[in-house]
Amino acid sequence: MKPNIILVGFMGTGKSSTGRIVANRLGMAFVDMDTLIEERTGMKIPDIFAQKGEPHFRQLERALTQEWAQRENTVIAPGGGIVLNPENIADFSRSGLVICLTADPDVILNRVIHDRNRPLLEETGDKAKRIRDLLETRRALYEEIPVRINTNELTAAEVAEQIIALYTAHE
Ligand code: S3P
Repeated sequence: MKPNIILVGFMGTGKSSTGRIVANRLGMAFVDMDTLIEERTGMKIPDIFAQKGEPHFRQLERALTQEWAQRENTVIAPGGGIVLNPENIADFSRSGLVICLTADPDVILNRVIHDRNRPLLEETGDKAKRIRDLLETRRALYEEIPVRINTNELTAAEVAEQIIALYTAHE
């Protein structure tokens, strides 16, 4: 059985862009959980938050985690809030290598500033403060993941290289 690679981390840390590269390079499948939720519900993420509420979205994430943690040979990019339920990380850890991508708040802001698809960043006018506050409330959860890559100064291709090196050493 070939272990999965699960890329967790805050919004804008590059989970999807680097995950796609890694999957291509290693001949593994790739799944972006937010995209899959959108496809299955027929709704955009901001509409799910607005019409069904965040707890409903977290239930959808939880169900998908249980489903994908059963698979193998897949690079999985969950949404940034996947760490809010420790059972998600426990399930993913049993299925493969969980890697946390990190970045400083100002780097994250630059990467997400023009994107309107992240409802948690649209709640107030001050995106910079919202990012700092959310990161602060989640800091301990992200820090619990022992394998980490700081992406501040790296291109997606460089992050992918590091992920592949870690995975190869882990196998
Ligand atoms: C969220 C992150 C988003 C998406 C949703 C909630 C979060 O995914 O799942 O907007 O709680 O951090 P990305 O990390 O891919 O932006």
